[in-house]
Amino acid sequence: MHHFAYTGSNLHCESVDLAAVAQLYGTPTYVYSAATIADNYNRLMQGLHGLDVRVCYAMKANSNIAVLRHFANLGAGFDLVSGGELRRVLAAGADVTGSVFAGVGKSEAEIRLALESRIHAFHVESEPELVRINHVAGKLGVKAPIAFRINPDVDAHTHAKVTTGKAGNKFGIPLAKAEAAYAAAAKCPNIAIRGVQMHIGSQLTSITPFGEAVEKLVPLAAELKQRHNIEYFSIGGGIGIIYKDALASGSREWWTSQPEATRPITPEAYGAALTPLLKPLGLKILLEPGRFLVGNAGVLLSQVEYLKRGQGKNFLILDAAMNDLVRPAMYDSFHQIVPLRRDTTRPAITADIVGPVCESGDCFAKDRDIQQLSEGEHVAFMSAGAYGCTMASRYNSRCMPAEVLVHGATFDLIKARETFDDQIASENIPAFLK
Ligand code: LLP
Repeated sequence: MHHFAYTGSNLHCESVDLAAVAQLYGTPTYVYSAATIADNYNRLMQGLHGLDVRVCYAMKANSNIAVLRHFANLGAGFDLVSGGELRRVLAAGADVTGSVFAGVGKSEAEIRLALESRIHAFHVESEPELVRINHVAGKLGVKAPIAFRINPDVDAHTHAKVTTGKAGNKFGIPLAKAEAAYAAAAKCPNIAIRGVQMHIGSQLTSITPFGEAVEKLVPLAAELKQRHNIEYFSIGGGIGIIYKDALASGSREWWTSQPEATRPITPEAYGAALTPLLKPLGLKILLEPGRFLVGNAGVLLSQVEYLKRGQGKNFLILDAAMNDLVRPAMYDSFHQIVPLRRDTTRPAITADIVGPVCESGDCFAKDRDIQQLSEGEHVAFMSAGAYGCTMASRYNSRCMPAEVLVHGATFDLIKARETFDDQIASENIPAFLK
């Protein structure tokens, strides 16, 4: 559920008319709903109320510092994957001591920064990484808290590029080698064993793989509690969201109308399936959701540049491009695209919806039915709050998009559109070329 809906013919986010945002700040602009983020967080916590849970928001999904501050105010910690992300949490005025540091390639500088910032734990992905963390902690004269990421070899049945829990993926330590890894950690003088972690992939649409993976790791977690006195089991992120019926899925009625067998994952069903497996462990449970918390809480606003009538084909050319929202080009993902002003008296057209970037991959949707739109009118890409702005680039020397946060009837600019001067500020022409 979310807070994007038409009031009359105008698409609103909470009580804000999105056309007013486009008018004031131009396009392409990402717009997020603070209420939707809070609802998603609270519903997830409620769904797992039987467990001692902490949510470490996977901030790679959306790392604007205003969004981070909102999560910190809600009580969340953070799942970080770089020194940059750690610095963002600090810049947001949030506490990092409840946060975990994931990723397969942590540098020495990042490990040092994380130790100095007293993060909750490193999620360690290999033995060489363990050795490095032990070494850096020794130099600083501290003990580094760690959990190993264990790869349960479970198929998440999601896009190949976001599957992480299969034996062939670069992530984690194979289950068969877990005990040896923990034994090695126990011998490291500067390591404190704190937990065990898994993350099997992103945009999962079924609870079954989560259950399978948790079931595979529960005996290990119980053993580690006995042997190494671990405190927590992190079950990662990965809960999928609605992309196809994104707008309709804002309402409770849509959810109840979905047939039981194919109903998408809800926090309630997720909690009901996993709580009985996890509760007997008596461990703290960490979750690292990204997409579930922010995905349906954001849209990307864009303006129509041209309606080009090609040979047997229409192209709706927008001012947003693959550099602003790369998911369709990168994962063939579907984003619903809706007009900001709905006009049911107009004919629908079938068009490829594309951006201005000079490659055919810059295509958001093929043969999509959409209300006929003309130059200067606006559309919204639904479910663009996760992995939207954080994956944006400057390809084709386009400036990074603006970001806006809605709160009730008010909205604030949380990231100004990049200017051309910003874009080239760190570039330099060496003397020999002058
Ligand atoms: N924990 C770890 C260790 C992760 O690697 C990830 C995501 C998460 C948690 C959060 O997963 P989520 O709850 O958001 O599914 N750019 C892709 C998604 C990449 C996910 C990477 N890891 C996309 O746009 O679909």
